Amino acid sequence: MDEALKKKDVSPLFEKHIVLGVTGSIAAYKAAMLSSALVKAGALVRVIETRNALKLVGEATFEGLTHQRVLYDTFSPDNASGVEHVDLAGWTDAFVVAPASADVIAKFACGIADDMLTTSFLAVRRDTPVLIAPAMNTNMYENPATQENLEKLRSRGIKIIEPSSGPLACGTVGKGRMAEPSELLFHIEAAVSRQDLSGKKIVISAGPTAEDIDPVRFITNHSSGKMGYAIAECAARRGADVTLVSGPVSLTPSPLIKKVIPVRSAQDMYEAVTSEAKDAFAVIMSAAVADYRPENVADEKLHKSDDDMSIPLTRTKDILLELSKNKGDIILIGFSMETEALIENAKEKLLKKSLDMICANSVKQQGAGFSVDTNVLTLITKDEVKELPLMSKRACANEILSRLLELKK
Ligand code: CTP
Repeated sequence: MDEALKKKDVSPLFEKHIVLGVTGSIAAYKAAMLSSALVKAGALVRVIETRNALKLVGEATFEGLTHQRVLYDTFSPDNASGVEHVDLAGWTDAFVVAPASADVIAKFACGIADDMLTTSFLAVRRDTPVLIAPAMNTNMYENPATQENLEKLRSRGIKIIEPSSGPLACGTVGKGRMAEPSELLFHIEAAVSRQDLSGKKIVISAGPTAEDIDPVRFITNHSSGKMGYAIAECAARRGADVTLVSGPVSLTPSPLIKKVIPVRSAQDMYEAVTSEAKDAFAVIMSAAVADYRPENVADEKLHKSDDDMSIPLTRTKDILLELSKNKGDIILIGFSMETEALIENAKEKLLKKSLDMICANSVKQQGAGFSVDTNVLTLITKDEVKELPLMSKRACANEILSRLLELKK
């Protein structure tokens, strides 16, 4: 796939305009990492530095990373127009300030406009998302003045991305460390994405289950969880209230996901999903749930003998089938992983489990299946079979979610 197409397929930030305001906090070096990540995701980034920020990270760093002139002087003769702060405020799809010092937060809250950043902030359209990532000493952060200022900004619809706790550059340990660039990126992606799933609770299962044989052995499968995690991330980015029920995987869930329930066995997954499904808009079962588990789990490690051995297996509960018995209004979406007769087998599961849609994929198809970042899906409903091309799992996730919304129409 062509690089630009690949970026468009994967990144909601592709060709989006982002203003990144940087203020005088030690965390300014993280803003350099953030600007680089935004550019790599396909965004066009204009950095505005305050005078104090320039003392910490020079303009050359941001200009090298964004390939754009850094702005800091409202009256610079290099400004393209006399009102660059107004132009930039109108141009941007999201206005991000990271790190935001106590001083700039106070100015924003009071409407003071005395430099390039604060005038641009004030000129931003009311419908443009504004995100602020504070970074400062714990006492400064907890000071009622700062807290009141943050509250004022929150009440005006500005998204405050909370700092974390930990050792700070000033030598103290406490709250005030700016959120990591990787976390900020998730929030910025959400800010520029359509919020068509806003307020809808979606329960998503992901990964394998592990069925214990004894304290050291278990039966599992090759599922990496990547498809389910991609759906959970995309749904959360589009505003859904996501509960991710995850089998054992080595992935980190997006910070936008409201609730993550780690589970191990098919029974654990059954309990978590059925309990969460009660008030859900939709359940998407992308997990590779074990169909069988050992009849008995040995309390002590099993030791070998010279004889062969067999382990009696018993059926696990079929989560989708159980949910379909009291389906009500809930949308049920399943996955079907096949090695042959893809469509026929998937259609059979669609009917048997009363699903609204099943996403079929073949392990034998190149670029599909476990561990890889791409998939080739066929989305099957009772009246349509829609084959999707090879796409990133993120793009597949968005297709599934868009189709899900159409199912309810
Ligand atoms: N599923 C479930 N509960 C189980 C097993 C599977 O809810 N105990 C869900 C999966 O998450 C997936 C769909 O059912 O969404 C897959 O259907 P299934 O008939 O179980 O497929 P396979 O396990 O692949 O079945 P088979 O061995 O019959 O091909």
